[in-house]
Amino acid sequence: MKVTLSVIKADIGGYVGHSESHPECIAMGHKLLSEAKKIGKIIDYHVTKCGDDLELIMTHKKGTHSQEIHGLSWDVFVAATEVAKKLKLYGAGQDLLSDAFSGNIKGMGPGVAEMEIEERASEPVIIFMADKTSSGAWNLPLYKMFADPFNTAGLVIGESMHNGFVFEVLDVKENKRVLFNTPEEIYDLLLFIGSPARYMVRNIWHKDTKEISAVSSTQKLSYIAGKYVGKDDPVCIVRCQGNFPAVGEVLEPFAEPTIVEGWMRGSHYGPLMPVSMEDGVPTRFDGPPRVMAYGFQLADGMLVGPRDMFKDISFEPARQKANEMAYMLRKHGPFEPHRLPLEELEYTTLPQVMARLNNRWETNKD
Ligand code: 13P
Ligand code: 13P
Ligand code: MG
Ligand code: MG
Repeated sequence: MKVTLSVIKADIGGYVGHSESHPECIAMGHKLLSEAKKIGKIIDYHVTKCGDDLELIMTHKKGTHSQEIHGLSWDVFVAATEVAKKLKLYGAGQDLLSDAFSGNIKGMGPGVAEMEIEERASEPVIIFMADKTSSGAWNLPLYKMFADPFNTAGLVIGESMHNGFVFEVLDVKENKRVLFNTPEEIYDLLLFIGSPARYMVRNIWHKDTKEISAVSSTQKLSYIAGKYVGKDDPVCIVRCQGNFPAVGEVLEPFAEPTIVEGWMRGSHYGPLMPVSMEDGVPTRFDGPPRVMAYGFQLADGMLVGPRDMFKDISFEPARQKANEMAYMLRKHGPFEPHRLPLEELEYTTLPQVMARLNNRWETNKD
């Protein structure tokens, strides 16, 4: 049976500041998606939040880029924004960069990750959701899951994965894409995805079967808006077991926190901390960046779950390490490498300050 899994998210208002989502906004999501389920527009749904981002997880039969599903998501975000406005939540409607829905929600502010799959006899999927970071944050963990045998034992000892995967990398600046075969082209791949602000892993396919294996949201808010409005706070769907990495191999990269861009004002590097939904509430210096992982078993399109995967106590040391890294970086205050380099700040908060000081810079005649 063919089923489409769509994860569409937006920051429609923060409670308090940028730290969390308000229960009434989540309730609005439930209300509208349960109505859509009742009339058969979607098969099933789960509404949740990661920090100040409202996350709509939906299954349906309409394929990716469906105008109907994107329109439904837009309607939910607009209705939740109305709730946010009534409560005067912070940045109500932050990610809705347009007044009216134009047919495809991509490019309008919300983040989108979708895959159409032939549902297997057992279809475990993990949905990653992050707050206070950017889409490139998935590059390193996706590389580890699908191309690093030190992370994924199955690449070596699992016959079904031995030939590797194909990575699609998007250049968000030039709006170009390229495909890399792994393992044979990992050095070329790493050259690009090692710069995650510009190059982002968007899709991964099984090399032999061509099955879609992982898909991430690559919408870059500041490029779309032309100015800083908030961070991208991306989502990512990963299929597990069988031809794909085991659930534990998919979660394993997050046991060692890495440094990603985002955090305060979207302008700092900070550690990506794996957390349960309850702990997905970034408050210290508006962070540090968080990642949640929800596991589902699909059953004829029904979302059996979620299991809150990072609730596991074995991720406790990662959280502790992330906190230590946060202290180390915070010590730098407004200095790099805590603050983003200037070229990155051009897409955030820098241009206004530069414009104001423009006349005071004189040519050095010394
Ligand atoms: P079980 O023996 O518990 O099914 O686990 C198999 C496996 O592949 C774990 O990664
Ligand atoms: P969000 O992108 O999560 O809204 O955070 C924005 C921000 O400025 C945090 O300091
Ligand atoms: Mg916000
Ligand atoms: Mg956010």
